[in-house]
Amino acid sequence: MTKISIVGAGMTGATAAHWLAERELADIALVDVVEGMPQGKALDLLQAMPVIGKDVRIAGSNDYAVTEGSDIVVITAGLPRKPGMSREDLLNTNADIVKKATEETLKHSPNAIYIILTNPLDTMCYVTMKTGGLPRERVIGQAGILDSARMRAFVAMELGVSVENVACYVLGGHGDSMVPLTRHSNVAGVPLNEILPADKLAAIVDRTRKGGGEIVALLKQGSAFYAPSVAIAQMAEAILKDKNLIVPSSVYLQGEYGLQDVFFGVPAQLGRGGLVKVIEYTLNAEEQAEVQKSAEEVQASVAELKL
Ligand code: 2OP
Repeated sequence: MTKISIVGAGMTGATAAHWLAERELADIALVDVVEGMPQGKALDLLQAMPVIGKDVRIAGSNDYAVTEGSDIVVITAGLPRKPGMSREDLLNTNADIVKKATEETLKHSPNAIYIILTNPLDTMCYVTMKTGGLPRERVIGQAGILDSARMRAFVAMELGVSVENVACYVLGGHGDSMVPLTRHSNVAGVPLNEILPADKLAAIVDRTRKGGGEIVALLKQGSAFYAPSVAIAQMAEAILKDKNLIVPSSVYLQGEYGLQDVFFGVPAQLGRGGLVKVIEYTLNAEEQAEVQKSAEEVQASVAELKL
């Protein structure tokens, strides 16, 4: 049976297990350092399966042995932001956690594909790739689906149209200088900058960029988890079903978009091997400048790393 392991059984990890179980994609293992917590959540979720008619085996443990033989390892473990903190404030604490999670899971699943969620996201992807000595195809960061979904939700609300009609593409680092592409984003094929007045569009771009912080400020403890975790399920499904789905994801760039040696949000084609291909848009000068600014932020973050 196919297997997905999730390291970090907090709100995001456990909710990811929920969305994944509903899709009946794979058996699921939850790992966390908190005693009893992954076991309890796994048992609770397992007992939900008869009600929804899904045959998914779900196990929780404080021991990485439970992850044995995973096709996909999801890393969500780490501290979340507190109100007023940036994702970068979490850097070295979370780097240690992600490093350990990578080392331990690789012992049990040497061929796994990694989906990373821990913040600061793009830098944590770098930690996993470097720690594991992994090829870039096997380390993919989740951020772009979330950021794009936020923008889609805001556009749909503003225009009173179905979310299904709204396609948005938010690229760049998962920070406040992410790059919502308004020229490529569209409603039923019509570019956003032709439908929305400039001030409304600017407000949506701004709210999208600050979307994670808006939720952190409301929750007061912890950060968003429903939308980040369903994005994991979409990525895992694309990989396991070899869908070749193109979604914005943080991947290691080797010259694409003029960038080298950096994880960065770009449209990425996902299939059974993980990253199949980076899709390169033709950007205008303004978009390219925004990409450059966002990349510099990610590069500065990586430079702070003490691996
Ligand atoms: C967010 O943007 C937690 O980074 C995540 O909500």
